[in-house]
Amino acid sequence: MRVVLCDRLGDPSVLKIVERPIPEPGPHDTVVRVGAAAVNFPDILTVSGEYQHKPELPFVPGIEGAGTVHAVGTEVVTRRPGDRVIFGIRPGAFSEYVKLAPHNMTMPLPDDWSFAEGAGFRVGAVTAYHSLIHRAHVKAGDVLLVHGASGGVGLAAVQLGKHLGARVIATGGDDERLAVVRQLGADHVVNYRTADFVAAVKGLTEGRGADVVYDPVGGDVLERSVRAAAYGARLLVVGFTSGGPSKLMSNHILIKGLSVLGVRAGETIARVSPELGRDYVEELPRLAALGVMRPHISHRFPMDQVADAFRVLLDRKVVGKAVIEMAG
Ligand SMILES: NC(=O)c1ccc[n+]([C@@H]2O[C@H](COP(=O)([O-])OP(=O)(O)OC[C@H]3O[C@@H](n4cnc5c(N)ncnc54)[C@H](OP(=O)(O)O)[C@@H]3O)[C@@H](O)[C@H]2O)c1
Repeated sequence: MRVVLCDRLGDPSVLKIVERPIPEPGPHDTVVRVGAAAVNFPDILTVSGEYQHKPELPFVPGIEGAGTVHAVGTEVVTRRPGDRVIFGIRPGAFSEYVKLAPHNMTMPLPDDWSFAEGAGFRVGAVTAYHSLIHRAHVKAGDVLLVHGASGGVGLAAVQLGKHLGARVIATGGDDERLAVVRQLGADHVVNYRTADFVAAVKGLTEGRGADVVYDPVGGDVLERSVRAAAYGARLLVVGFTSGGPSKLMSNHILIKGLSVLGVRAGETIARVSPELGRDYVEELPRLAALGVMRPHISHRFPMDQVADAFRVLLDRKVVGKAVIEMAG
């Protein structure tokens, strides 16, 4: 089988395709023939050596995908060869086959979803679910401000926010991509490169501001969000695609009675609060079956163009997800 290998850290051009044997399942493992794997911003950071999780070299990148069960171990009773599944793995998804241990989360791929859609579901859905439900307790009628809404975790939050009954204001840096975000459910879109999103949010809320801010962008977008937040708002710190952490003024946090909530979706379900993880096992398949957070796929690449898939993310061209599709 072919895999994408990272054997030295650097920009996307370090990635190469190599041959490896198809893995055999141990008694508790499931081997999946991968149909597609999605590219996430953390993959870029992992390959450049800047991510908090640093796998030992050489490694196969990619943290989510979808495919067909190829073989199961003697003790596996929940999956059978031929089942279509969505999976998470840390890392290893950019491969024609993956071996999944019991702790790697798999769930059924809805019948009417493509492998590409399934591949792009898990990271966005887990992050949005943990943020909006476990951390910020979003409820119907809340005004939810989602930054970087054309990106993977941003778009999932727009879609889940609408499902929960929130009024969603989505920001991003490109009008064309924001038009897609609007079609996919956002009530309002604001281009934060050409307009003052603080004034826009105030204008849309009679001066009150947003009840919840979901921010995967960081930098001055998070800093300015304090001014776009309502009294008592919850600020979800999700990521830093703009390049670095933000400085939040503690006097502003105090005066506005804000709650600043860090989000570590993967870490929380895997290690800190496995009981919250069990919630996803029930809820994510239910939401997927309802079509909630069904990914929008704007770019598809064959495996040997994996570097191009990384570049469209870096160049801010993606709406929803870019995926790598396996030939087999
Ligand atoms: N906390 C958690 O548990 C968790 C889980 C998953 C991911 N994350 C983090 O969430 C962030 C987003 O991940 P993602 O996979 O959704 O990324 P993505 O699909 O690339 O989306 C990120 C968005 O950030 C915006 N952006 C602003 N400045 C940018 C810049 N300088 N370069 C690239 N994009 C920029 C882009 O929108 P515009 O061009 O429209 O501005 C882009 O759509 C990452 O920092 C990731 O590490 C956190």
